Amino acid sequence: MAEEAPQTVFSSKHDLSSGGRPILFTPLDAPGPLPKRRASGFAEFDRALGGGLVPGSAILMGGDPGIGKSTLLLQASAHIAMAGGSVVYVSGEEAAGQVRLRAERLGLSKAPIQLASATSVRDILTTLGMMEAPTLLVIDSIQTMHSDTIEGAPGTVSQVRGCAFELIRYAKENDVTLVLVGHVTKDGTIAGPRVLEHMVDVVMAFEGERSHQYRILRSLKNRFGPVDEIGVFAMEGAGLAEVGNPSMLFLSGRDEEMAGSAVFAAMEGTRPVLVEIQALIVRLQSGATPRRAVVGWDSGRMAMLLAVLEARCGLNFSSAEVYLNVAGGYRLADPAADLAVAAALISALGDKPLPKNAVWFGEVSLAGEIRPVSHSSIRQRESAKLGFGRAIGPAGGANGEGPAKGIQFTGLTMLPNLVDRIL
Ligand code: TYD
Ligand code: MG
Repeated sequence: MAEEAPQTVFSSKHDLSSGGRPILFTPLDAPGPLPKRRASGFAEFDRALGGGLVPGSAILMGGDPGIGKSTLLLQASAHIAMAGGSVVYVSGEEAAGQVRLRAERLGLSKAPIQLASATSVRDILTTLGMMEAPTLLVIDSIQTMHSDTIEGAPGTVSQVRGCAFELIRYAKENDVTLVLVGHVTKDGTIAGPRVLEHMVDVVMAFEGERSHQYRILRSLKNRFGPVDEIGVFAMEGAGLAEVGNPSMLFLSGRDEEMAGSAVFAAMEGTRPVLVEIQALIVRLQSGATPRRAVVGWDSGRMAMLLAVLEARCGLNFSSAEVYLNVAGGYRLADPAADLAVAAALISALGDKPLPKNAVWFGEVSLAGEIRPVSHSSIRQRESAKLGFGRAIGPAGGANGEGPAKGIQFTGLTMLPNLVDRIL
């Protein structure tokens, strides 16, 4: 428990309507240069940011420990430094020698980055005040920073908030792009109770399964761009490499038809991604409570889908254990996954393999209707490009999108139609 200092309360007699300085209003299209974005060296990073780093902005980069945040930022810093920008990289977690060792491994030790290992925000801001403001300032991580004006150990809510406030103010006043690394707590929020998310301009999450190679950079909040674009990276021996065309990554080697496996034509922002969904159903003999486990999707959503399949289609999952896995460590966020998951579940339940060359997409309602989803034709076009010949989705399509070439589309309206097709 942390005690917060009581707020000063003004009496209502206190009149604020006089004694201040007048503010200057300007029109929206006021002349003057707009801030120019700077490339990070990773097209995938820039894409997730909505087109590069904005000067004077603060970016919070969250992610599980060991996912690759420091690696990504060191590589981006090196690129910016080598492209003529000035970069200050402050690590509060690693000694300068450790960062240097990593840079060496990544082949970046020649990059003119100004590196420091420090945790005192006063020291950092004093030093920055004595030099020309850098283009990019990386603070790795905000939880290790400490301000002597605030009580409490580093990492507490008041310290994190106070340190971030001072650093953000410096960045705004000096047109510096600030990147704060934030650790994700057990419940998935960045830097404690989401205090930082309100203070920064961009919140990014770097995610993926540590045991898998692929990493996805997602923007959760962005004052300068869309939030549904992702960047895809692969963690390799020499650091992170970008994956420009990710649509095939999450398909496992599928040679034989297997019951319980369905390919989902997903959309990530404006990009289609094909993902394999695997379901396994184990019938229980005893009366034990069956387990339900989901990797890569929302377990509440799967419970809902199972209930709809039971109530609207008469299928019986009640005495069976249900396991769902999304291949490649990918996390599904697209609501159109419902139909593909339903197809995988039905196929696993009936032990009937789905056609190998088919993709599935569509949203399922509680009434068992299959609802139209966005970008139906982009999903189909990408599937055709990767050699799929059939697509099963919502009838009618969304936004009057026509059929895509090279792929045979089957439109369904109700979930029981799907069951009839598979079983
Ligand atoms: P790191 O950037 O330190 O993660 P974070 O800052 O998010 O905690 O990345 C650590 C992991 O990345 C480590 O487990 C090993 C892996 N890695 C590679 O596979 N290749 C590399 O070239 C580097 C630098 C790291
Ligand atoms: Mg790190």
